[in-house]
Amino acid sequence: MKLLSIVSALLVSYSSYVQAVDKKDLTGTWSSKSNQVFTGPGFYDPVDELIIEPSLPGISYSFTEDGHWEMATYLVSGNPKDPTCPSAAITFQHGSYDLLDNGTLILNPIAVDGRQLVSDPCNDNGVSTYNRYNQTINFHHFYTQLDDYHGMYKLQLFQFDESPLQPLYLAYRPPMMLPTETLNPTEAATSDNAKPTGKQKRSLRDTVRRNLENRHRTNAVKSKPKSILNSDLVWYLSAGMIGVGSVVFLSS
Ligand SMILES: *[C@@H]1O[C@H](CO)[C@@H](O)[C@H](O)[C@H]1NC(C)=O
Ligand SMILES: *[C@@H]1O[C@H](CO)[C@@H](O)[C@H](O)[C@H]1NC(C)=O
Repeated sequence: MKLLSIVSALLVSYSSYVQAVDKKDLTGTWSSKSNQVFTGPGFYDPVDELIIEPSLPGISYSFTEDGHWEMATYLVSGNPKDPTCPSAAITFQHGSYDLLDNGTLILNPIAVDGRQLVSDPCNDNGVSTYNRYNQTINFHHFYTQLDDYHGMYKLQLFQFDESPLQPLYLAYRPPMMLPTETLNPTEAATSDNAKPTGKQKRSLRDTVRRNLENRHRTNAVKSKPKSILNSDLVWYLSAGMIGVGSVVFLSS
């Protein structure tokens, strides 16, 4: 009898652990405290393959319950030699994820779709580099909880060395995401769900020209953020969504 109750206690604690890593809890668009970086069409324009610079650094992850993810990060790192010269990297990736039974979360990218814009103003003569980006991301474990202080639902991800990522807060649920299939299929892409589009036949020359155009256009957006998506509207929208999200959460 005693053994049985120990076993059932273990089962209860195991099931509450499993509940803590439910895909349903993960679902949504999560954003760091700056609340300026969100996945979706305001961050990356897949038609023009253009990254749109957010007004402040931050990170955002989105997850769907059926196993898709998207990432938008804008990271600025200080330059120890010259504090007035920080470098910045803006990165977009998406793909499908695996949630293992032990709580480990593996984000597999659609390799041809990732993009990264790197700016190192004191070393690159003001010309940012824009490249494909393809990096599998492993999170050792994570949890979600209602954050009492901020009154918002919080996602805490732990990197593979178990160090915590900055906490993310729920901004949209259902998530704000780009289409989850391959966006920029090329001959090299082997994705089953790649939609046949005209882009598949794009020549290398077209692609290079496109990249150059994008570099120019990206810099233009960067120096003068005039896009309405960039600032106030997104802020109001997200503030509104967070409000709705909290009400839904509290009343459920
Ligand atoms: C879960 O299992 C994977 C694969 O075996 C392993 O790499 C990972 O470290 C494990 N995670 C935890 C939280 O133990
Ligand atoms: C993406 O990265 C993986 C692992 O490093 C590599 O095997 C694969 O060839 C890369 N794909 C592309 C399109 O760069």
